[in-house]
Amino acid sequence: MEQPKKEAKTKAAAPTAADSASGKKSTSQADWGHMARRKFALWSVFGFLAACTAATVKFFYPQVLLEPKTRFSVGYPSDFGFGVSTKFQQSNRIWVVRDSSSLYVIFANCTHLGCTPDWNEAENKFKCPCHGSGFDTEGVNFEGPAPKPLMRVQVELDSEGRIVVDRSKLFEQDQWKEPGAFLLI
Ligand code: FES
Repeated sequence: MEQPKKEAKTKAAAPTAADSASGKKSTSQADWGHMARRKFALWSVFGFLAACTAATVKFFYPQVLLEPKTRFSVGYPSDFGFGVSTKFQQSNRIWVVRDSSSLYVIFANCTHLGCTPDWNEAENKFKCPCHGSGFDTEGVNFEGPAPKPLMRVQVELDSEGRIVVDRSKLFEQDQWKEPGAFLLI
C-alpha cells in the first residue's frame, strides 16, 4: 500500500524534460527571461540618468568663447622692423605696419565682403583671395571691387612701453590722423 505513494512523489519531482518537450517553459528559463528584462530596465535607467547628468553639467559649465580678445599687447615697438608684420594675422586678424616715423595696425578684413587678404611681399600689397581686391601698405584700395580702404585699429602704449591694440575701436581713412590711429616712433 505504501509503494504507489512513492511513485507519485518521484513523478512530481522530475517533470522538466517532459515539460520542455511539450512546450512549457522550465523554471530556469523563466528566471533567465526575468533577469534579462530586469537588466534591460536597469541599464535603461542608468542611460537616462547619465544623459540627465551630462545635460545638467553642460548647462552649468561656463561656455568657453573661442573668439580672440579684442584688446591685447603685441610687444614693444622695437620688436617690429620697417614694413609689414603678419605675425598676428592668424591669431588676431591684424597686421602691424611700421614706416619711417610711425607704427599703425590694420584690420585684416577686406572692405568688399569681409575676406582676409594676404600680404604679398613681392608685390608690396595686400591681396584679397576672394575677388582680387588690392590694397597698398597703408591699406588704401587700388584694384578690384573693394569700395574703400582697410580700417585701422586703435593702438597705444601701456605704462611699460608695450603696444596695446584694441580691435573694438576702428578708424576709417578720414580718421587715420586721429590720436589712437597710429603711434609716433
Ligand atoms: S571680399 Fe575681398 S575682394 Fe571680395
